[in-house]
Amino acid sequence: MDSEPVKFPKDFLWGASISSHQVEGFNFNDWSEWEHQNASRLSAEAEAKFADKVPDWEAIRTMATSPANYISGLASDHYARYKEDIALAKELGLTSFRFSVEWSRVEPKEGEYNQEAIDHYVDFVSRLKQAGIEPMVTLHHRTNPLWVRDQNDWQNKKTVDDYARYVSKMVDAFKGEAKLWNPINEPMMSLVGGYLGGVYPPGKKNLFAALRVFRNMITAQKRAYQIIHSSIPGASVGLSHAAMVAQPYKNKILNRPLAKLLNYLTNDLLLKRMTYDFVGVQYYARAVIDFKIGWPPKVEEVPQPGPTSDMGWAFYPEGLYQFCKHVFARYKKPIYVTENGVTDADDDLREKYIKQHLFWLKKAMEEGVEIKGYFYWAFLDNLEWDKGFWPRFGLLEVNYQTYERKVRSSARAYSEIIKNSGFGADEVA
Ligand code: BGC
Repeated sequence: MDSEPVKFPKDFLWGASISSHQVEGFNFNDWSEWEHQNASRLSAEAEAKFADKVPDWEAIRTMATSPANYISGLASDHYARYKEDIALAKELGLTSFRFSVEWSRVEPKEGEYNQEAIDHYVDFVSRLKQAGIEPMVTLHHRTNPLWVRDQNDWQNKKTVDDYARYVSKMVDAFKGEAKLWNPINEPMMSLVGGYLGGVYPPGKKNLFAALRVFRNMITAQKRAYQIIHSSIPGASVGLSHAAMVAQPYKNKILNRPLAKLLNYLTNDLLLKRMTYDFVGVQYYARAVIDFKIGWPPKVEEVPQPGPTSDMGWAFYPEGLYQFCKHVFARYKKPIYVTENGVTDADDDLREKYIKQHLFWLKKAMEEGVEIKGYFYWAFLDNLEWDKGFWPRFGLLEVNYQTYERKVRSSARAYSEIIKNSGFGADEVA
């Protein structure tokens, strides 16, 4: 790697991300119900799912095989401790913070708003601003109020109108204090997980349902875009997108078109239809895929060598560069990296992970890609959806007995990067 320091512009935003359901605690929505219905099954399946895939199964076995691991409960107790969390974000020098508003708190029953919850988020945003931290607001991060679920969630066109009404409510509540918005987090992940793979609520495997959700989310994003722009001058509305970087295993002949197709279906199909001012790139690792001839034919992900996260995802920082280059060349929209992070309970890889990804990000910027900020996922340890609490993504370590936060040493290193607008090239390897 070259020896020039890895420097970022002064106005580059340095942030971290969280989402409501994963950190707040005591949410009542479609996910929390699904957790109760599926905790026993998930704990019983854990060994078969993870024992061969994660680098240290013994370290996580007790948690992963316990049903309690899959119940969000108090989560990271962030709803109650948000002031402390903002103070820690300030102490680390973050200049931006991405969080999500929990629709089920704001509108627990159709048309009935909970003013206390709205005030909570308004206070959250104004405290961020007072701390000199630019908020980035996500309005939907995978969870739905129970009444939305009961009307057939995003499969129902009516949900788009309901969502638009909720968006207007929050846009009015923030009174222009928030300029950066993500209406819907990773529409493709919600769709693939919930309606094709059946692994997230509502647990469907139905192409027609998925297509309805796809269409409705596109309309919902567009409506949110219009609502936000019509009331907030200078607002910027992004599409936060789970970056698929699929590559062919051993460059085998059938794998090549397959990887291309997968990239097209999961990235471009959405990016070319959605309405947005910036792309929120959410990148963790690549997927090296192998097509297995047989009946039925199978597509398998091939584990890669090198350092891997606690979840077994191998580092591939160059993928961030490749994805940003592709997206910018094709869609010509500025980029924020709205999520990038690693599960690393011992905290011996996180600093390296961040620096390597930033190194490749900078390379893309030098080659003309407009990248305006980087948000580490996650600000603090949280519920990793259907995996529960054992994956530790946080800059802050959460003690799940006391809910105390501890600043990890990688968070201090990130803080140094922010202070210096970069780091030395020798720190990357
Ligand atoms: C999601 C987060 C999730 C993270 C790590 C993203 O797909 O937006 O909610 O925790 O990836 O899996």
